[in-house]
Amino acid sequence: MSVVESAMKRMWHRDLASDPTTHAWVLNLYRAGERHPQTVKDYFPHAHAPSAELAEKMRRHERDEERHTKMYTRAIEGLGELVIDLEGYDVFNEVIRDKTSASFAIADTDTADDKREKVAHFLAHAHFLEKRIARSLEFHVEACRLMRSDRVATVVESVLTDEIDHVAYTIDAARDLLTRKRAEEVIDLHRRGEAKANYAFSRHQVKTALSRFTAKLARSHKGAYALAGMIMLEAERRV
Ligand SMILES: [Fe+2]
Ligand SMILES: [Fe+2]
Repeated sequence: MSVVESAMKRMWHRDLASDPTTHAWVLNLYRAGERHPQTVKDYFPHAHAPSAELAEKMRRHERDEERHTKMYTRAIEGLGELVIDLEGYDVFNEVIRDKTSASFAIADTDTADDKREKVAHFLAHAHFLEKRIARSLEFHVEACRLMRSDRVATVVESVLTDEIDHVAYTIDAARDLLTRKRAEEVIDLHRRGEAKANYAFSRHQVKTALSRFTAKLARSHKGAYALAGMIMLEAERRV
């Protein structure tokens, strides 16, 4: 990440954390990602994990995300704001899925090899998703501390600790399931999907914030965010 990009992200998270309405908006976005597995049938395919150890890791991962959903719910309520069940491009998982060609929905008719490959696809998908979230949460914790939003900072820090674990086990498990060559192909597919989704999601959120919270953002910051939106459009085309 360049110095300019990280400076922009710091400014973005500080601006959002400085006001309860915009702060709740970003927490609702994080919550939407945590809640996504509860709204679909193809996440955490532990029944098809080839080892009891991996099945247990996926079960624990699933429970963590359910707990995180509740933690964000309480944090938003603590700000005196509304909890909203977001959909579509407000859910980062949905954007990654939209930008990735592979499906990991397992059918009864799939062979054992098909199932193994789909579990690996799910884990690679989860890895890049979690990595992006962890990066965002690091910026967000820093902003919360600076803006004296310490209760939210404590929640986000706790979530971040779990996400770091999720980032690590998912990539190791995806590699273990496939041959080295196939694993790298699968991982690369999801890396590219996330890279595109990262720009598409951020651009969508910048556009939303500029239209919804125009009175809350400084004029000079709005100019910088609008420029960042244009740069992200170009960057997504080049992935
Ligand atoms: Fe989570
Ligand atoms: Fe996670």
